[in-house]
Amino acid sequence: MKTRIAVLVSGGGTNLQALIDAANRGELPHGELALVVSNNAGAYALKRAEAAGIETAVCLREKGQPRADFEARLQVVLSAHGIDMLVLAGFMAILSAEFVKRWPDRIINVHPALIPSFCGEGYYGLRVHRAALDYGVKVTGATVHYVNEIPDGGRIIAQKAVDILPDDTPETLQRRVMEQAEWILLPRAAEEVAEKLGTEKG
Ligand code: GAR
Repeated sequence: MKTRIAVLVSGGGTNLQALIDAANRGELPHGELALVVSNNAGAYALKRAEAAGIETAVCLREKGQPRADFEARLQVVLSAHGIDMLVLAGFMAILSAEFVKRWPDRIINVHPALIPSFCGEGYYGLRVHRAALDYGVKVTGATVHYVNEIPDGGRIIAQKAVDILPDDTPETLQRRVMEQAEWILLPRAAEEVAEKLGTEKG
C-alpha cells in the first residue's frame, strides 16, 4: 500500500510543484500525494494542488488562538484523510513538541540553508538567504530533515550545497537554492521516507 502523504504549505508552493512533477514522472512510487493543507487561505500552493487534482484543506490559526486548538483541527483533518506522513514544504508555522511526538519519523521539512547554519526560530523564507548574504558565506544550500521538537533540529536526510555569487540578492539566491537543491532533494527524500513507512505498514 502506498504511504499517504499530506503536504503542508503556506505560500507559493514551488516545492509542492516539485513533488507533483516528480510524482507525475513516476518518481514517487511509494507515496501518494493525498492532501495539501495550508495555514493561509490565499496561498498559491492551493491552486497548484487543485490543478493537480489533489484534495485541499485550509487550517487557519486566528490571532490569539492557542496553537493547541489549531493543531487539534489539523490532526482531525489529517486523520480524516488517513494520512501516514507529512511533508512541510514552505510551511511557515512551528509545530509543537506534543504534535510532533504523535508523528515520530513521519514529518519531513525542507529548509533553505545548510543546517546547522541559518536555521531555527525566525529563519524562514527570504530571511534565511538575507542572513547568509549578510554573514558573507560563499556556499549555502538546502537541507531536508526529519522534524522533531527542536525547530530545524531533527535528523538530516539530505543536503546539497549551492554557490553564492558576488551579485546575489536574497531573491536570486533563493531561486538558485530552490532550482539547484530544494526541488531535487525534497521529492527524493519524500520517496525515501514513504518507502520506509510503506515497509512498516506492510
Ligand atoms: C522554500 O525556500 C522553503 O525551503 C522555505 O520557504 C520557501 C517556500 O517556497 N521554507 C522555510 O524557510 C521553512 N523554514 P515554496 O512555497 O515556493 O515551496
